[in-house]
Parts: sequence; structure tokens; C-alpha cells
Amino acid sequence: MTLHIWDHFWDLRVKECPCDAHFCDWLEETGTRGKAIFHFGTGGHHLLGLHNAEKGLGNAILGITASPGEIRTYETMITENPELGWGYKAYFGDIYQLDARLLPVFDIVTLFHVGEFRTEKNDAYGGLTDDAMVRLLAGRTRPGGTIAFYAGSYAYDKAKEVHDRLVAEGLLIPRGQYKTLPMFERSDRPV
Ligand SMILES: C[S@@+](CC[C@H](N)C(=O)[O-])C[C@H]1O[C@@H](n2cnc3c(N)ncnc32)[C@H](O)[C@@H]1O
Repeated sequence: MTLHIWDHFWDLRVKECPCDAHFCDWLEETGTRGKAIFHFGTGGHHLLGLHNAEKGLGNAILGITASPGEIRTYETMITENPELGWGYKAYFGDIYQLDARLLPVFDIVTLFHVGEFRTEKNDAYGGLTDDAMVRLLAGRTRPGGTIAFYAGSYAYDKAKEVHDRLVAEGLLIPRGQYKTLPMFERSDRPV
């Protein structure tokens, strides 16, 4: 048994997968500054971190990647540009092994890739289900905070099932769609 890593490297391909670019647009359009953001799937481009630094948004972003190549790129980036490391921390791991005890309360959580990578390989070591992982992160999002999904995902049917269930339970409140990103507000209901 080995960790279910993602043994690929995703460079920015906005035409194919615009979620991160659309999220950057949303941050700028809404004037989102100084917030704590959790980001599922950094990509090897690390766009969110670079955009945060370039635009001086002052957000604090924690990104996760399961790609050894992508985390190596992050290591190189912050080594060569330590300023980037203030607002952008990336870590290597399987999101289905998240532990709520180690997470702060976020203002914003991106869940663009729910359902895309969860297989029986995660089951082998008791990985969270998609539902459990989303609930865990909803539990670490402040009331009034934002959770963003990605309607262009090839697994959006699975993601939609999860967010619809959380809406039905009153944990999330639909707040429309920004470009390709269905947006939800975290209610004050405990998870
Ligand atoms: C197709 S890339 C997309 C990257 C970026 N969000 C974009 O749209 O350009 C998928 C991302 O999800 C990450 N990923 C895949 N499985 C994961 C897992 N189990 N836990 C955490 N991240 C994972 C990959 O490492 C990669 O960064």
C-alpha cells in the first residue's frame, strides 16, 4: 500500500481548466484581502500564491497538492523568492487525510476537484470520503465564509451531490455562480 499521490504535473491550462484563474478574478473583483484561504489542488503553476503576491492582496493561502513534482516547484519558488512564502504555503499530502485538529478556521475554501481523485487507493488507508472531506472543511470555514466549487470539473456530478446534501442540511447557502464557480456561504449551523 502506498499513498495515493497524483504523479503528474499540472501547468496552467486556462482553456482546459479555468478554475484557479476564475478564482483569482473573483478575489480581485470582490476586493478580497487579508483573508485565510484553503485551496485544494495547487497545480504546478501555483497561480493563487503568485497572484496573491503580485497583486498585493495580503491573503494567507494554504494550498495542498498530492503531486511530488508540484511541491518541488513550490520549494524552488519560495527558496528563490522568500516574499512569496509569507502569503502562500503549499504542502504535500492527500486531502483525504486532512485532520481538523490541525486546521485553522478559514474565511474561504476552494473545493474545485472534489470527486476527481478519490478511489479505492484512498480506502486502503482509511481515507476520508468526498462527503467527509467536504464536511470537515465546512467545519473549518467560519459562518459567513465562502466555499467555492468548480462546475467544469469532470467529476462535478459527484461534487454537486455533496454540496446539494450540505445545502439540504442547512450547512451551506447557495450564493450563485461566479464564471465557472458555484459559490456557497457557510451558515452558522454546526457540522
Ligand atoms: C488537474 S490539477 C489542477 C490544478 C489547479 N487547481 C488548476 O485547476 O489549474 C489537480 C490538482 O489536484 C491535486 N490533487 C490531486 N489529488 C489530490 C489529493 N488526493 N490531495 C490533494 N491534492 C490532490 C494535484 O496535485 C493537482 O495540484
